[in-house]
Amino acid sequence: MSDFPTNKPVLVTCGLPYANGRCHIGHLRTYIPADIYVRSLHKQGQRTVFVCGSDTHGTPIVVSAEELNTTPTQLIEKYHSHFDEVFKNLDIRFDSFGSTDNRVNHNRTNDIVNKLIKNGYVYPKIIDLAYCSQCERFLPDRYVEGICPYCESPARGDECDQGCGRHLEPGEIRDPICKICGNKAKYRQQEHFFFKLSSFKDFLLEHLKTLKGTDNARNYAKEWVTKELRDWCITRNLEWGVRFPGHDDLVVYVWVDAPIGYISFTEEYCNNIGGDWKSIWQGDSRIIHFIGLDIAYHHCIFWPAMLEGAGYSLPWAVIASGMVKIEDKTFSKSRGYVVWVNEDYLEHGFHPDLLRYYLASYTSHTKDLNFSWQIFQDKTNNELVGSLGNFLYRTLHFAHKNYGVIPDGEVSDEIFKEIRTTINAVIEAMDQYEFKKAIDNILKLSGYGNTYFQSHEPWHLIKQDKKACSRIVKDCLQIAKALVLLSEPVLPVKMKEAWGHLGLNGDVTQLNYDEALIEIESGRTLPKPNILFEKIDDKKIEEMNIILNKRVAVASAKEANLSPKISEITFDEFKNMDIRVGTVLTAQNIKGSEKLLKLMVDIGETEPRQVVAGIAQTHIPEKLVGRQLILLANMKPAKIFGTESRGMILAADESGAVLLVPERSVNNGTAIR
Ligand code: MSP
Ligand code: ZN
Repeated sequence: MSDFPTNKPVLVTCGLPYANGRCHIGHLRTYIPADIYVRSLHKQGQRTVFVCGSDTHGTPIVVSAEELNTTPTQLIEKYHSHFDEVFKNLDIRFDSFGSTDNRVNHNRTNDIVNKLIKNGYVYPKIIDLAYCSQCERFLPDRYVEGICPYCESPARGDECDQGCGRHLEPGEIRDPICKICGNKAKYRQQEHFFFKLSSFKDFLLEHLKTLKGTDNARNYAKEWVTKELRDWCITRNLEWGVRFPGHDDLVVYVWVDAPIGYISFTEEYCNNIGGDWKSIWQGDSRIIHFIGLDIAYHHCIFWPAMLEGAGYSLPWAVIASGMVKIEDKTFSKSRGYVVWVNEDYLEHGFHPDLLRYYLASYTSHTKDLNFSWQIFQDKTNNELVGSLGNFLYRTLHFAHKNYGVIPDGEVSDEIFKEIRTTINAVIEAMDQYEFKKAIDNILKLSGYGNTYFQSHEPWHLIKQDKKACSRIVKDCLQIAKALVLLSEPVLPVKMKEAWGHLGLNGDVTQLNYDEALIEIESGRTLPKPNILFEKIDDKKIEEMNIILNKRVAVASAKEANLSPKISEITFDEFKNMDIRVGTVLTAQNIKGSEKLLKLMVDIGETEPRQVVAGIAQTHIPEKLVGRQLILLANMKPAKIFGTESRGMILAADESGAVLLVPERSVNNGTAIR
C-alpha cells in the first residue's frame, strides 16, 4: 500500500540554492527528482505544497559580492532571478520560490532563535577566533583558511573540504591565514553563542528511527550522532544576515536561517492563497525534504534538533540523492568539471525534458550519477527516440492515417491488466524514491506496446480483417494514453504535446494515474501527430565534448599557471580560417536570452552577415553600432536560440568577453593573417 494519498497536509521542499553562482546540473539532482515526485503525488490524488527559494546569507555571499565589486543585495537578486528562470525553463514548478532575505524569514528566524534561547538551548561562550590585525576584523568561515585540527589537511574556516569533510566550528582551524590580505591571522577572544546540540542526542537517535526517506541520509546521520555531537556556534561577526537578537554586531549562522526558509516560504505561500501554514509546521503533517547527500548532516541532525527545541513539527522524510559527477570525475567548478544549465545545455537547443529524463533514469537516486554527453546521446536515442517515442508515433501515425479517429472496438483485458501492473509498479517505485525503477517500468510498457504492434502487423491486418485491426489499434492507443499519463511527471512538456496528439481533453498534469484505466472513446478525432523525440547526432555531442574538454584544459592550465595545452596546427589549417574585419551595422538583444546579441556586420560583401554573439552581459547593443571588430566568417552556420548565426566574433575570454578590434580603421572584409 502506498503512503499516499493522506489527509494530512503534505509539504515538499528542496535544498535551497546559494544565490551566488549559476545553476549547474549538480543542483538539478535535487530539483528534478523532487518535481517528478510532486507531480507523481498529484497523479495519486495527493495535494501538496512545494517550496524552495534562494539561500542568501553566509560568508561566501559576502566574499563573492566583495570580489565582484557589488553589494550582497544586488548579487542575491541577480542569482535569485537566474534560478527562478532556469527552474521555469525546466518546468520545475514550485508553488513558491522565496528568498531567505525576505522579511518573513527574518521574523521567523527571530521567533525560533528566541524560543531556543527561552527554552535554555543557547548559551554564550568566550572563544578564540581568527582575527586579522591588518584588516582589523574577525575572520568568520571562508574569510580564513588554515589546517584542519582533525586530519591536518588544508581546510577552509568552516569545513575541511579537502580532507575529512568535517564541519569546523569557529576558532577550530589551525595556522589561520586571512583570505582577504593573505596575512597570518592571530587569535583573539570574543563572546559567541552556542546551540546545545549535544543535549539532543537521545532525541535524535529516536527521531532517526522513525524518519522516512532514503537510508543513506539516516545512516550518515546515525553515525555522527553516536560518534560525536558537538554544540554549534550559531553566531558570526558579519553585517549581512539575520541579526542575532539583542546583539547588533552579530548575525546568526547561515545554517540557522537557511532551513527556516522552508517555514517562511510555506508561510508566504499559505498567506497568499489563504491556507494555514501552522497546520504544516505546528501540526500533524508530512514534511518531505529533498537534498543532496552533502547536506544530510544539516537536515538530519542540526535541523530536527532546532525544530524540536523551538516546538515546531519535525520532518517526516529526508530524501538524499547521490552526487553528480561529470565524465566520471568529481564535480568541480574550479577544475572545469561542470555543466552549466543555461550555457551548456539550454542555449545549445537541447530540450529540457531530455535532461529531466537523464537525471531521473540513469541510476538509483541514492547513488552517485555520472553525466556524460555520450551517455546522454545514447539514452536519448535508444530509450526516448527508440522505445517510447517510437511506440507513440507509430501508433498515433497509423491510427491517424488509416482512421482519422479513435477506431471502434473494445480494449482487451490483457491490455488493462498490463497498464494496471505498470501503474502499481510506478507508484511503488515513487514510494521508494527510486525514479529509475519507475521509468524502467514505463519503458517496459512501451516495449510491450512496440512488440504488440509489431507482432500483430496492423499494416497487413487492415487489408485482411478490418475489425480485428481496429481492435489492435485501439489497444495500442490505450497503451499510448497510459504511457503519456505515466511519463508526464518526467517529461511534462513532451507529454502535454502527446496528450494533444491523442485528441484528449483536460490538462494531463492535473489528471490521476487511474485515468489510464478509463477506456478511450471511439470516434474521437485524432489530429495529425508530430514526431516527439529526435535523434541527437554525433556532431552535436562532439561539439559539447569540445566545450567541456576546453574548459578542463583552461582550468588545469590556470592551476599550473600555464597557458592551456591545445594541439598544434599547420599553417594550412590556419589558412582554412576566413578571419576578417567587419563593421557592426545593427545590434539587438535576443528575446529570452540574457547572454546573446544578434549582430548584422558589414564584412565587405554585398549582404551584411548575421551573427549571434554571447556578449550581451558585457556590451550594450547601441554602443556596438559603427564599431569595427574581427569575425571568423567561415564558421559553420548554426541556430542559436532560434536565430541563425553565420560567423563568430573574436574576443578574449576573461570572465566576460573583451572584443578584439583593429589597431586603426581598415576596409571591411580585410583579411587577418
Ligand atoms: N544552500 C545550501 C542548502 C541550504 S538548505 C536549507 C546548499 N546550496 S547549494 O547551492 O550548494 O546546493 C543546492 C542543492 O543542490 C542541495 O540540495 C545540494 O545537495 C544540491 N547539489 C549541489 N551540487 C550537487 C552535486 N554536484 N551533486 C548532487 N547534488 C548537489 O547546499
Ligand atoms: Zn587580513
